[in-house]
Amino acid sequence: MNIGIDKIGFAAPNYVLDLADLAQARNIDPNKFKLGLLQSQMAVAPVTQDIVTLGAQAAQAILSEKDKEQIDMIIVGTESSIDQSKAAAVFIHGLLDINPFARSIEIKEACYGATAGLILAKTHIAQHPNSKVLVIASDIAKYGIASAGEATQGAGAIAMLISADPSILILHNDSVCQTRDIMDFWRPNEDKYPRVNGKFSTEQYTDCLTTTFAEYQKRTGKKLADFAAMCLHIPFSKQGLKGIQAIAQEDSKTLNRLTERFQEAIVYNKIVGNIYTGSIFLSFLSLLENSQSLKAGDNILFYSYGSGAVCELFSGHLVSGYQQHLQPDRLHTLNQRTPLTVEAYEALFFEEIQVDETGQAVDLPVDETDFALVDIQDHKRVYRKK
Ligand code: CAA
Repeated sequence: MNIGIDKIGFAAPNYVLDLADLAQARNIDPNKFKLGLLQSQMAVAPVTQDIVTLGAQAAQAILSEKDKEQIDMIIVGTESSIDQSKAAAVFIHGLLDINPFARSIEIKEACYGATAGLILAKTHIAQHPNSKVLVIASDIAKYGIASAGEATQGAGAIAMLISADPSILILHNDSVCQTRDIMDFWRPNEDKYPRVNGKFSTEQYTDCLTTTFAEYQKRTGKKLADFAAMCLHIPFSKQGLKGIQAIAQEDSKTLNRLTERFQEAIVYNKIVGNIYTGSIFLSFLSLLENSQSLKAGDNILFYSYGSGAVCELFSGHLVSGYQQHLQPDRLHTLNQRTPLTVEAYEALFFEEIQVDETGQAVDLPVDETDFALVDIQDHKRVYRKK
C-alpha cells in the first residue's frame, strides 16, 4: 500500500522583522545574517498567536469537511508547548470540529517531534487504510533579545494530511534513525528560553547526518545520486547547505544539482526563520512550490534533526499531479506581512501574558486573525475561531 502526504499547508503570524534592521540595532554586519546564516527575515508572533492557533490555521487551510470526518488521529509535534499536561492537539481537535472518535496527542523531541509523528501516522494508516491522520508541526522559536540565536528565531506551523494513495508524496520504507544523549540545545522547565551550546549543536547536526547517512547507504544500497533533491531540518539556511556539502563532497555533479534544488527549498525558510519541528516540512513545501525542475517520480531525501539528539533519514517520491495540490501564490502572501521596527518586534515577541490571582488574563490584546487566543479564564486558555 502507498502511504504518504496527501495535503500540506502552512501558517505564519502576520508580522515580520527584517534582519538587516536587527543587524543594525545590534551593531552587527548585516552580511553575517544574510550570507553567514543565509537568513533575511523572521516571522514574529504576538501573544495571541501560539502553537494552537497557528496549527489550527495551517490545518484549516487544507482540510475538507470529509477529511475532518475521516481523521481519527491528530498528532502535534512541538517544543513550544502551552501546557505541560493537555495536548495542543486536543484544542485543535475542538477548534476544527474533527470526528469525536479520534486520538489527539502531542509529541516532543526538539525539532524531530513532527517527523516521529509522520512515521507514527504512516504505521497507523498501514493498519487502518481508510482513515486519515493530521500531523501538525507548530513552534515559536525564541532565544531572547540580543542572544546568539536571535537572528534564527521564527514562528509558524505546517499541517500535513497523511493517507493511503496520497496526492503529493509516497513515503518509502527506508528510515534510519540515530539517538545521541548530548546537551547541544535544551530548555529546562524553569527557563523561558532554550539553552544552547551553539557551535557544538552545529557540529552535532552535521556529524549525526554524515554517520546516519553512512548507515543509510549500507542498509538501503541507495546513493545520493538517486535523489532529485534533499530537504533538511533548517535551524538557519546555511546549516542545511553545510549538511548537503558534508555528504555530497565527493560527487560534484550531485552536489551541484542538490545545491540548486536547495536554493528552491529555502525560499520560505529564509523569510520565516526557524520553526523548529516544522522547518524540514516548510523546506519541502518551499521546494515543491518554487522548483520548476522537479517532476513526478522524483525521489526526495529527508534529514530530520532534533537536538538532544534524535535524527532520521527517510525518503519518498513525488506523485503524478502533485503540482495541483499546492499554493503557488504563497510567496506573494508572505510578502504582504506587516513589517515591524526592532522596537516593535521586541515589544510584541517578548510580551508575556499577565494573569491575576483568580487566573484571569489582564489586558490581553485584541487579535482579528481567524484563530486567536482571546482570553484566559480561571487559568484556562480560551480560543476563538472566526
Ligand atoms: N559576513 C559574512 N559572513 C559572516 C560575517 C560577515 N560579516 N560574520 C560572520 N559570518 C559568518 C561566519 O563565518 C559563520 O559562517 P561559517 O559557519 O560558515 O563560518 C556564520 O556567519 C555564523 O557566524 P558565527 O559562527 O560567528 O555566529 P555565532 O556564533 O554568533 O552564532 C550560532 C551562530 C551559534 C549557530 C547561533 O546562531 C545559534 O546559537 N543558533 C541557535 C542554535 C542552532 O541553530 N543550532 C543549529 C544546530 S542545532 C539544531 O538544528 C536544532 C535547532 O533547530 C536549534
